[in-house]
Amino acid sequence: MANPKRILFTGGSGKAGKHVIEYLLAQGHRVLNVDLVPLDLEGVDNLTVDITDSGQMFNALTSYANFDELEPGTGVPKFDAVVHFAAVPRILLVPDNETFRVNTIGTYNVIEAASKLGIKKIIVASSETTYGVCFSDGETNPDYLPVDEDYDVNPMDSYGLSKVVNENTCRAFQRRFGHDIYALRIGNVIEPHEYSNFPGYFENPAVRRRNIFCYIDARDLGQIVDRCLSTDGLGYQVFNAGNDTNSANIPSKELAERFFAGVPVKDDLGEHEALFSNRKIREVLGFVEEHDWRKYVSG
Ligand SMILES: NC(=O)c1ccc[n+]([C@@H]2O[C@H](COP(=O)([O-])OP(=O)(O)OC[C@H]3O[C@@H](n4cnc5c(N)ncnc54)[C@H](O)[C@@H]3O)[C@@H](O)[C@H]2O)c1
Repeated sequence: MANPKRILFTGGSGKAGKHVIEYLLAQGHRVLNVDLVPLDLEGVDNLTVDITDSGQMFNALTSYANFDELEPGTGVPKFDAVVHFAAVPRILLVPDNETFRVNTIGTYNVIEAASKLGIKKIIVASSETTYGVCFSDGETNPDYLPVDEDYDVNPMDSYGLSKVVNENTCRAFQRRFGHDIYALRIGNVIEPHEYSNFPGYFENPAVRRRNIFCYIDARDLGQIVDRCLSTDGLGYQVFNAGNDTNSANIPSKELAERFFAGVPVKDDLGEHEALFSNRKIREVLGFVEEHDWRKYVSG
């Protein structure tokens, strides 16, 4: 690999992170996973860290990744990048205030430590829920479709709010330190085994309404993170991280009319183009989808 990086990855033992780490290792990067629980995957290094403790976070970021790094006798190497996924990943797992606390304080600690230690690339997991449709009380329509990064995000739940706050934390630290901080508004993550759920989605598309019908293959998310790692100099950025089409087998305009009646739809929307726009990652990062659901599901 041309430019292997030494990466500190938070939350890599979780649903999304384990696939992203696998992808990054396959590209030749070195990854230290910091999480409350280790990831059992060949080639990854693990350190047990609570991101809500700033001291632990600063310490982890100045740590050897493993014993082999003792050998050269040149001290602790510097991390080239931080990928921050650790979080409470939705509402209704713990009380709302705890979701908000872990996600906002944890993210502040990760970004502050990385920025003050001079790490020039930070990639942060934000969420589709910032659009305020996913965890809203009652049915909420988006302001327009497809939702894109220019949208005035305005969620009403503690998780979505924590991610909006985190995007502002990214923006503030980028402004202060001038490094690259990219926030990924990640769509609903689909692991390879979960394509078996898609026929059920096609029978009852309404179950995907709150996700604005988006999905992101966990391995394609790996590619997006890798492209963020190799694309420098963009400052603060927000990117939707989703696949090219919807998790539905109905044409996009029809889907919008059926489930988001009256919402303005942009004229140039492709026949099956995602209502959760991924144009920016395609145009700016050069993302090329590898895992269209049509490869794994018929219908
Ligand atoms: N899964 C999705 O569909 C989805 C969609 C949008 C955004 N996201 C975001 O992507 C990221 C990963 O989500 P996921 O689905 O893999 O979640 P997950 O819960 O499976 O993984 C999160 C990981 O973070 C770790 N963690 C939690 N609190 C921690 C703490 N205080 N210190 C250290 N580690 C801690 C957990 O142990 C876990 O391994 C999260 O930021 C989530 O909000 C996920």
